[in-house]
Amino acid sequence: MFEFLKRKPQIARPIFESLGTDMHCHLVPTVDDGSRSEDETYLCLSTMRDAGYNKVICTPHFQYPRFPNEEEDIKERYQYLSEGLSKRGIDGITLAGVGGEYRIDSGFPERMEAGKFLLVAGRYLLCEFSLHQQLMGLDETLFDLQMKGYEIILAHPERYPYYSSQSHRLEHFKEMGIYFQVNVLSLSGFYGESPRVKAFEMIDKGWVEFLGTDMHNTLYARALVDATHDRKIERMMSHTTFMNAELLSLDANSSSKF
Ligand SMILES: [Fe+2]
Repeated sequence: MFEFLKRKPQIARPIFESLGTDMHCHLVPTVDDGSRSEDETYLCLSTMRDAGYNKVICTPHFQYPRFPNEEEDIKERYQYLSEGLSKRGIDGITLAGVGGEYRIDSGFPERMEAGKFLLVAGRYLLCEFSLHQQLMGLDETLFDLQMKGYEIILAHPERYPYYSSQSHRLEHFKEMGIYFQVNVLSLSGFYGESPRVKAFEMIDKGWVEFLGTDMHNTLYARALVDATHDRKIERMMSHTTFMNAELLSLDANSSSKF
């Protein structure tokens, strides 16, 4: 299954070094549609390290009813993963805490009521929307979250097809003070041409505070290798600053070496 990692070409350059921290990935095994084993997580992390990352915040899906994860269980599984990887050892990259990627869906009000969110770096609530349809009452939910004090990061705004012709909606979210996180693999066309174009457009507008790998498995790792060969991404990285590097200075207690 992991043969591709032995084949050339490998990472061209560690073009994501300036980010340091990845803050969106699905590498806690078997809890969602991400990594299927500790071996797969290990190989994904090795690739991320070679691409320039040195810290990784895991963000499993919380999505109703597909991934009915509970925060306490995810924390235990993250700890188990962290200890397992610690025994194996890997140079140059560390796990740096667990957050969640929360889909705002019909199950979300209950989670909001419980208020037990796993925050990225102990501070940011990473949210996503359905990829297929706009949710009614979305603005009110986002506003309510902000009134409760949550700082919201919207995951991959470039990937929502219904916003591709509604730039004013994305502009509205920026006016609300919502942070945007673009997927690195959107920039290389992994999700198609429209997300690629939108991702660069939003970065050019200065709308994007964070980049995330949204790493799920070795297929994504292969695509990350390819992205390091992309000159347009490399050029953008050389003249754009993102907030990834600041994340862990806010949450010094969350890092665990493995
Ligand atoms: Fe994700």
